[in-house]
Amino acid sequence: MFQHLARVLAAEIALHKHNKVNRQGVVSPNAQHFHVIKDILPEHVFKDLREAANQLQSSSIREDSDWRKGQAIGGHELKGSGFAPWLEHMSSAAFQHRTREATGIETLALVPEADTNRISLLFYSGPVFAAADTDVQGDGTDWHMDGNIYLGDRWAGILTLVEDTQDDISKLELQPNGQIATIPRAGLENSLILFQGDHVLHRVRAMAPDERRVVMSLLFSDWPVRTRNPWLRRYQSKVNLAFYGNLRS
Ligand SMILES: [Fe+2]
Repeated sequence: MFQHLARVLAAEIALHKHNKVNRQGVVSPNAQHFHVIKDILPEHVFKDLREAANQLQSSSIREDSDWRKGQAIGGHELKGSGFAPWLEHMSSAAFQHRTREATGIETLALVPEADTNRISLLFYSGPVFAAADTDVQGDGTDWHMDGNIYLGDRWAGILTLVEDTQDDISKLELQPNGQIATIPRAGLENSLILFQGDHVLHRVRAMAPDERRVVMSLLFSDWPVRTRNPWLRRYQSKVNLAFYGNLRS
């Protein structure tokens, strides 16, 4: 009991320090590896899941939903949508086995369902009217570092459903060890890119007209227990509000 409390307290202190300094580039050299897991889902599951995502996007646009500029749907909203039956594939033992096998982390798991970032769906498209309105150019995130609200290591997972672009490389770019690592576009669809976004700078390059990208964003941790630090929790709520129009974290 005492040992557990001591471990939690040490993790809380380390997390607080980490979130204070990681945006200044103070990160762990041991957290710079990333993994690309090809063909993460069986082909027929992947195709059906992509079709469900496409249908969700077109029906939501018809309903004139008030999504943010990059069109993100958080986990809570996905559960109440036509996409809900597909979420179980990301929670399956086979899926979990692939992520654990690739990273070598035996306790790696999706964060709890209470977190809307556990599984979310992101849509990116190029400007509808060339350069007239930059708000429609995907989310245009520049190089940034994520925050972490989990006591364990945080792993971001990007499962690409559609990468319909003119580039030879992924719109997602990572900067492990300060060096830009590009990922080939070939084979990107139905792959899962796993990286520690609170230790590795990353960005999504702007989309050109007629380009389209649809990804599932997954959040994992090797110790998926949320911090009790109220400042960190409040920070995450603000991020969720900006991203999904939803304060729940
Ligand atoms: Fe990020």
